[in-house]
Amino acid sequence: MEQSKGRRLILCPLPLQGHINPMLELAKILHSKGFSIAIIHTNFNSLNPSTRNPHFTYHSIPVDLTETEASIKDLTVVLSILNAKCVEPFRECLAGLLSDGVHSGNPIACLISDPFFDFTRSVAESFELPTIMLRTGSAASLAVYAAFPLLKEKGYLPISDSRLEIPVAELSPLKVKDLPTMTNCDPEVFYQVITNMANEPKASYGLIFNTFEDLEGHALATIRQKYYPNIPIFSLGPFHKCGPTTSSSSSSLLAQDQSCISWLDTQAPKSVVYVSFGSIASIDQAQFLEIAWGLVNSGQPFLWVVRLGLVQESNWLEKLPNEFTEALNKRAHVVKWAPQKEVLAHPAVGAFWTHCGWNSTLESICEGIPMICTPCFGDQMVNARYVSDVWKVGLQLEHGIERGEVERTIRRLMVEEEGEEIKDRALKLMEEANLCLKGGGSSYQSLDGLIQHILSL
Ligand code: UDX
Repeated sequence: MEQSKGRRLILCPLPLQGHINPMLELAKILHSKGFSIAIIHTNFNSLNPSTRNPHFTYHSIPVDLTETEASIKDLTVVLSILNAKCVEPFRECLAGLLSDGVHSGNPIACLISDPFFDFTRSVAESFELPTIMLRTGSAASLAVYAAFPLLKEKGYLPISDSRLEIPVAELSPLKVKDLPTMTNCDPEVFYQVITNMANEPKASYGLIFNTFEDLEGHALATIRQKYYPNIPIFSLGPFHKCGPTTSSSSSSLLAQDQSCISWLDTQAPKSVVYVSFGSIASIDQAQFLEIAWGLVNSGQPFLWVVRLGLVQESNWLEKLPNEFTEALNKRAHVVKWAPQKEVLAHPAVGAFWTHCGWNSTLESICEGIPMICTPCFGDQMVNARYVSDVWKVGLQLEHGIERGEVERTIRRLMVEEEGEEIKDRALKLMEEANLCLKGGGSSYQSLDGLIQHILSL
């Protein structure tokens, strides 16, 4: 702590909710260890000034996406526009911060950035500033991404519909259908974006994961030995349980509707199914109705996040029939965005129907909440398979979203014996998540290692 006192770090999150949250949580952790923190962020998905951390300095860079660019559904295109438009503003901002550092006699130790923000490392390098990467997804999903060239060579990629059930022997227990894909985009472009991202850390000064050894020891070993043997790897998650809990700052881009907490207060312990598909995924109207009826027919109370934009070509709930709205009023609560971590920690929540974004997966694990998995794209497919087949703390909707299967799966998890075993395993995993952060635990030690590494740069 003494050594790091006041040493400055710059953190630069990719401006998407699932990437911003872990980067800012990491910032909190490092601040609690004595570092001073500067955040470079874009004016696209800009961080809310009223909920910023008062101990950090924030530096906004202009990207000026046009309205059409900002509403593009193909994430690979949005990413390439961001990567092109951010370079110069980032360079200018970094130059300013570095020069302030020199003048104040407190130079910057390093940049911590996201490998999807592929220009940041080379710009920092041009100023001789070392970069450490934070990979915000699971270690298992990065091991899959890093294997993309091999998967292509072996014919698993591009994915063919006739081979979905074939096991990927090199990546057990994954099947071809679990390999990451992206809807609304050219598979070749997706391949390129992913291989660039997976290569980026190789030239960096280290790679940080929001995960822990007891959860992903095997994937971390593969990452260390096979894909990134020349850089130090740090696994210090789960971040949100590791940093100080007193801070009221939030990195949520959308306002969190607190009404769900008072609604949860009126529900029986472990009775509610919490349903959310994160910040990007979208579903069509037919799937929306299948979800709605599956939930109602399950007989369980539910809290459902229907984010604006979740349902394609729809404004919010207007596609739901009246009978559903009546059924809904009896047993459910619907919001546009929830305080998810608080929801998952609430005693009334008994299951999480999730898209398996890595943050959601980890947040659920940390509260011992079993999952129902509907992965939508990218790393979510890998995370979902690990939840259902490796950690065995959830069930996957294997045949898409259909009301009968939704109802059956909720009942299997919430009321049947099979569910009891899954719930027990989820509680055990939660204990492991807590233990790794305590003195001597793997994440605790890894954080110490990261601090020493930063101070040695
Ligand atoms: C994206 C990708 O989808 C995901 O696969 C990748 O791992 C990270 O980037 P996203 O879809 O947003 O993330 O999902 P997730 O990783 O789960 O992150 C969502 C974050 O938003 C979580 O931290 C969650 O707590 C928060 N959230 C979600 C809310 O605060 N309120 C909500 O209502 C829903």
